[in-house]
Amino acid sequence: MQQRLILKILAGLTATVVIAVGALALMTRYNAPCEPAPPTAAGASGFTANLQRCYGDVDIVTLETLPVPELTPSEVLVRVHAASVNPLDKHFLHGTPYLLRLANGLNAPKSPRMGADFAGTVEAVGTDVTLFAPGDEVYGVANGAFAEYVVRNETGGMALKPANLSFEQAAAMPVAAITALQALRDKANVQPGQHVLINGASGGVGSYAVQLAKAMGATVTAVCSGRNAELVRALGADHVIDYTQEDYTEGNTRYHAIVDMVGNRSISAMLDVTEPDGVLVAVGNMKMNNWWGPLARPLHALVRSPFVSQSLEPLMAMTTAEDLTVLAGYAERGELEPFIDRRFTLTEVPDAIRYLERGRTRGKIVVNVAQ
Ligand SMILES: NC(=O)c1ccc[n+]([C@@H]2O[C@H](COP(=O)([O-])OP(=O)(O)OC[C@H]3O[C@@H](n4cnc5c(N)ncnc54)[C@H](OP(=O)(O)O)[C@@H]3O)[C@@H](O)[C@H]2O)c1
Repeated sequence: MQQRLILKILAGLTATVVIAVGALALMTRYNAPCEPAPPTAAGASGFTANLQRCYGDVDIVTLETLPVPELTPSEVLVRVHAASVNPLDKHFLHGTPYLLRLANGLNAPKSPRMGADFAGTVEAVGTDVTLFAPGDEVYGVANGAFAEYVVRNETGGMALKPANLSFEQAAAMPVAAITALQALRDKANVQPGQHVLINGASGGVGSYAVQLAKAMGATVTAVCSGRNAELVRALGADHVIDYTQEDYTEGNTRYHAIVDMVGNRSISAMLDVTEPDGVLVAVGNMKMNNWWGPLARPLHALVRSPFVSQSLEPLMAMTTAEDLTVLAGYAERGELEPFIDRRFTLTEVPDAIRYLERGRTRGKIVVNVAQ
């Protein structure tokens, strides 16, 4: 009798959870219509920014004039010279994976500003700012980089630009190069003489990973299509596997670390070519799933990890001032140089994102902001 009651309660609870999750799922998927831009005060000084006033495809992107914001004491105003495009920009644009909406806005983005990676010149600083001064050339990550200005707190993801790089080169670095650095240094702990395989070697993250792994003293095998073989060799790869001809998981070579940006091979197959004490770093997944998106592979790695001898390391890269400074050091020593595939202007941001969405980018896509 009592058992039947407990079963009934459990069934009731399960049904409630299923209905709640289903309702949340439906609510999360709904795209609110684009809000019209608020009117700008007559005579107000402003700057140009690419905005998304809803979730959708590139055709919802608008170029608008925003008022130059007042700075709080800890904020820095940067005039943007160049920005770069990352897969995360398309995730924010579409609001996918839907999980992202829990933080970014359920049916429409909380902030309409677009873009993250930037390089520019500090124009003004808040009264308490000590780390930066007007005239400093900086690079980093800020909300709204596809614009003439960004504002960000002085601490966090901003540092002095590498002295030997142009603004567009510096803008091409933050998210992708930090991801490569944290994958190789923090997750794979790459040491001189170890053999590292980079899957997705010709893309934004991969093009930096090849160079950084070489700078760390590793032997590097780059996996890319044949058309990019010459590029990754020029970046420093010792061996190149053309994925259209050969499956790297079926070869005889064992790698200390596999850094995977593509997610096109099963974790078991990748472990077959990872040394028993090696590391598999799950960075991304080029196949888009609207619920989990690029998070699927890292989450899978997390679940499998306790049952294998190798380390399965999901990566969620964090942009920090310290790592931007580390990367500036690599660039200034001549060990890291961005490869720029295509350049766009501020009015061409939708084209830039469309270009990225093809999934065929070589190195990075840059948006130059006219000065
Ligand atoms: N975990 C994190 O914190 C984090 C941070 C940044 C990025 N990511 C993720 O990492 C992934 C890569 O980012 P990204 O900026 O490098 O993207 P990307 O620049 O758009 O990558 C494009 C490159 O992927 C290559 N590619 C496509 N299919 C391939 C395959 N089957 N095998 C090998 N290469 C292939 C393409 O080369 P071909 O034209 O030769 O095929 C192209 O060069 C994305 O999923 C992104 O969301 C994760």
